[in-house]
Amino acid sequence: KIIILDFGSQYTQLIARRVRELSVYCEIHPFNKVPELDDTVKGVIFSGSPYSVRQEDAPQIDYKSIQEKFPLLGVCYGAQYLAQQSGGEVLPSEIREYGRANLQFVDNDNALLKGVPAQSQVWMSHGDTIKEVPANFKIIASTDKVRVAAYQVEGTNTYGIQFHPEVTHSTDGQVLIKNFVIDICGCAQDWTSESFVESTIEDLKKDLGTDHVIMALSGGVDSTVAAVLLQRAIGDRLHCFFVDHGLLRKDEFEQVLDSYKNMGLNIKGVNAKELFFGKLAGVTEPEQKRKIIGGAFIDVFDQASKDIQSELPEGSEAKWLGQGTIYPDIIESISVKGPSATIKSHHNVGGLPDYMKLKVIEPLKTLFKDEVRRVGKTLDVDPNILNRHPFPGPGLGIRILGDINEEKVRILQEADDIYIRNLKESGWYDKVWQAGTIFLPVQSVGVMGDERTYEHVVALRAVGSLDGMTADWIHLPYELLAKISNEIINHVKGINRVVYDISSKPPATIEWE
Ligand code: XMP
Repeated sequence: KIIILDFGSQYTQLIARRVRELSVYCEIHPFNKVPELDDTVKGVIFSGSPYSVRQEDAPQIDYKSIQEKFPLLGVCYGAQYLAQQSGGEVLPSEIREYGRANLQFVDNDNALLKGVPAQSQVWMSHGDTIKEVPANFKIIASTDKVRVAAYQVEGTNTYGIQFHPEVTHSTDGQVLIKNFVIDICGCAQDWTSESFVESTIEDLKKDLGTDHVIMALSGGVDSTVAAVLLQRAIGDRLHCFFVDHGLLRKDEFEQVLDSYKNMGLNIKGVNAKELFFGKLAGVTEPEQKRKIIGGAFIDVFDQASKDIQSELPEGSEAKWLGQGTIYPDIIESISVKGPSATIKSHHNVGGLPDYMKLKVIEPLKTLFKDEVRRVGKTLDVDPNILNRHPFPGPGLGIRILGDINEEKVRILQEADDIYIRNLKESGWYDKVWQAGTIFLPVQSVGVMGDERTYEHVVALRAVGSLDGMTADWIHLPYELLAKISNEIINHVKGINRVVYDISSKPPATIEWE
């Protein structure tokens, strides 16, 4: 395996992703908590950092003992640190170097740069630059602005690179990483989702011992896969529950609960509809609705976990809270911090109040969504859950504009069910990143038979996206839209008009509230 020592760069996890794409297992550890480096370790990578090596409190590490035993690649800060510590000079760049650059000189005979073309585009992001390297450092790549874009310490397997090979803008970054990981370190390409499952279960067993874990499931991919992993590690000492807040899709509560049971999870359904509908009655403001739903969820969670605790055998206590956090959740919740940037308060990222004192266990927190799906497949998770569109924690609560009541939920569930079923039957469901139906707070005039109607409007939304951060509307065929609209208006009492949302994000958002 490869050990990545993290000095705090925003790109550290991307380095891991690139290494994993080569089917090589890697672990990220903080620079100040270096694990024991036994002979399963084939190489070490030092990440970048928001620090400058010139700062007094810059992160330090005993690099010499690592360098003596393992191939070592320093990226950005890592490269500057190794150069500076070995007697080189790192100074502030005269021009700040962010964004794309092209290599001017590449030593293709060098093992690290084999196959990286001259002129290759690389991604720079640094305020310091390596001005001088010690005599035994060989410069192996330069750009027109950065003389020391890459170096090798002669006669050793220590390398440094100023640019970021892990970002996709470095067009040949993966070639370089492969050269290091496979050729220089000699890693075998045998890390797969099977081996992730195996090693994660082992780690969970070690970390959890005989402890009990409580977990709220949402019916989504991440929490489900996380729960199945935990279940494989500790069996029925994982206590799951699934809350019906009354704002799920049609029949979703029963279907999801059944499939959880079929997967062998120790799960309880909690019907909390009345609580949510009671608290939401008459509330129209979107943020207030979100806060109420988030708050009520914590109350339900609190009660459910007390119930679980009280049913445990004498002397046992559930000390852990299982969560389906994945890497993009972490990026998003860090980058949008601060009240001015809060566009929508997500009810599942806020976390639970401190008084619950549960330690959090997040078996998927180093995985990207596609990796989670692959792991889920390995674990035989129900494909209906694995291939599901994302569904927001507040559910239909933020798809009913204005105030919420049970009748509106029923109408929306019926319409949405027709929409989603048609997407599935026509093969569009899997081509769309997320789709849903929105209940609008307007009524419009229509005519059915000889009768005048004055009924509700629903909007259909279908978007393509990679991560939910940006999205565009999907050009569904007119014939399909016509069929769906017809079916909804003919079958769902209370709706006489259907519209299709053709807004992208930005400037709109995916959800309407
Ligand atoms: P927006 O509407 O902000 O949505 O463009 C981006 C993605 O986030 C989902 N979303 C949520 N997911 N809890 C969630 O788990 C929430 O409170 C929440 N609000 C929005 C939305 O469905 C879309 O996929």
